[in-house]
Amino acid sequence: MSIIAVFNQKGGVGKTTTALNLAAALQRSGRLTYAIDLDPQAHFSSINKVTAKSGNETVLSIFNHNRPLRELVQSSPNELQMIPAHIELAKVDVLFGKGFNVVNKLNASFQAEHFTNSATPVIMDCCPMIGVLSLNAIFACHGLIVPVSADHLSAQGAFQIEKTLHALEPVLKRRVKRRYLLTRFDGRRRMAWDILKMLEEHFGADVCRTRISENVCLAESPAENKTIFEHAPTSRGAVDYQALLNELMADGFIE
Ligand SMILES: Nc1ncnc2c1ncn2[C@@H]1O[C@H](COP(=O)(O)OP(=O)(O)O)[C@@H](O)[C@H]1O
Ligand SMILES: [Mg+2]
Repeated sequence: MSIIAVFNQKGGVGKTTTALNLAAALQRSGRLTYAIDLDPQAHFSSINKVTAKSGNETVLSIFNHNRPLRELVQSSPNELQMIPAHIELAKVDVLFGKGFNVVNKLNASFQAEHFTNSATPVIMDCCPMIGVLSLNAIFACHGLIVPVSADHLSAQGAFQIEKTLHALEPVLKRRVKRRYLLTRFDGRRRMAWDILKMLEEHFGADVCRTRISENVCLAESPAENKTIFEHAPTSRGAVDYQALLNELMADGFIE
């Protein structure tokens, strides 16, 4: 079973693009796939054409009404099994504090509902902030993907996440499996190669061998509410995200 969170506290690094197209690649491989939008901006939901009318139709409901996750799942037109986000989801951070039961809530729900025994992968898109929602994603996930766009500020975000994970792991009593994924890679730029070298030096085998290239089709597809495989199936972006799934499955990161 694979519960995968996509997180970096830096915005604009390709989290939503990665969650969207990794979930789409999984579905194309013929697997029923769950997707959970943990970003109140709800782009992951809207691109998949799933909307929540209020916070009650989001994971906010598991915090304030103890609702089961399965009750919140909606099917997208592509049959992605999605729990969408809504702007009211941002309330989680002010309403519930950051006690263990709060940050472990999503994990407890997955376990109570036996998601962890099912063969269905779950892809979660996070907001760019290490608040209650992102902590829930880290506590609940089997694997964390950290997209790092090929620039220096984004690389700093990766080092901050590594520090955060080191602080959390004694509480979790396990090492969080993670993969740093270089995104928006433009091989004509020296900086892109510098960032790649820096990541490989610091994170070794935790860096994905697949790199996501800077690709205009990836930037265009959200405007049409399409995944890269629908918008431009032969584009570099589609090839890269398919290669990412192949790599993650081959090394057991996604089962
Ligand atoms: N590999 C890429 N090539 C070109 N544009 C990209 C690429 N990845 C993401 N983008 C664009 O960059 C912007 C930020 O990406 P997004 O996935 O929304 O980041 P985040 O979720 O981390 O904030 C979006 O406009 C997206 O379409
Ligand atoms: Mg996003």
